Amino acid sequence: MHAEIIELIIMEIYKTVSDLQQGLARLREQGPKEQGRTIGFVPTMGALHEGHLVLVRRGVVENDICVVSIFVNPTQFNDRNDLAKYPRTLERDVELLEGVEGTVVLFAPVEQEIYPEPDTRLFDFGQLDKVMEGRFRPGHFNGVAQVVSRLFDIVKPDKAYFGEKDFQQLAIIREMVRQLQIPVEIVGCPIVREEDGMALSSRNARLSCEEREKSAIISQTLLKSSNFADEISVVDLKKWVTDKIDEEPLLKVEYFDICDAVTLQSIQDWTDSQNIIGCIAVFCGEVRLIDNVWYKNSSSVTL
Ligand code: PAJ
Repeated sequence: MHAEIIELIIMEIYKTVSDLQQGLARLREQGPKEQGRTIGFVPTMGALHEGHLVLVRRGVVENDICVVSIFVNPTQFNDRNDLAKYPRTLERDVELLEGVEGTVVLFAPVEQEIYPEPDTRLFDFGQLDKVMEGRFRPGHFNGVAQVVSRLFDIVKPDKAYFGEKDFQQLAIIREMVRQLQIPVEIVGCPIVREEDGMALSSRNARLSCEEREKSAIISQTLLKSSNFADEISVVDLKKWVTDKIDEEPLLKVEYFDICDAVTLQSIQDWTDSQNIIGCIAVFCGEVRLIDNVWYKNSSSVTL
């Protein structure tokens, strides 16, 4: 097909595993016989925004079909209140996905489809999930690994797209794919930000106007710190970032860690690693926000 010919396709929506798999089998057959069509996959929990849509557009461009899942996975919420308050906006999500040009297939299952029986698997990610989010949200990454491995098994994608916004999640998914030997390429995508620097997140919708305005201090402080990181010690930089954000009464830093981007272990000195990232979690009222910034990023490593 020539690039200038725009295919008009109505987005297909599936709610059950068997319907999705039949739909995908049909779409796959429409490709050249010798290779079949490739499938890109973007797992989400819905309440879609531009951060998700960038992943979907990339999935569409790099594959013949892009499957997007919307499933608020209960096993990754260690806080019941967070699960109950997670925004659910399926109608709007469908509209946004219909605006994406290309073959998009939406999978929006109910819990029974993903977990016909309780998932009791326990993953071992070594030190990767003992730090940062793993430390403050016990069991969170085990739940993420359960749902993503189950979704990979259902969709069987060639490539799957994840945002660097959830940097530790991306590292854990790569490790899970390695351990389970799942034949999928994991593609990490840069953080999409608002004009004031705030990382887009479904949780931002829960912030009041004032909270939203003050939350921009988080990304602005991270960005500023990256401009003079090499001039001060790691310890001093950590303190500077934490103090600067905590100065704002509406914000409270839960952790700020500067670590090796592959092992996620804290570094003590800027010479300790070629790939250094700073990851932060901050409470703004009841809403927990995460963000990160690169301090050193050698392009020789696939992150
Ligand atoms: P969710 O928070 O909906 O995010 C879905 C994907 O969108 C993740 O890969 C996330 O990193 C990416 N994303 C979110 N905001 C982004 C931004 N501002 N810029 C770039 N990418 C962004 O992450 C999850 O859902 C779940 O844990 C999931 C992987 C679906 C498993 O349940």
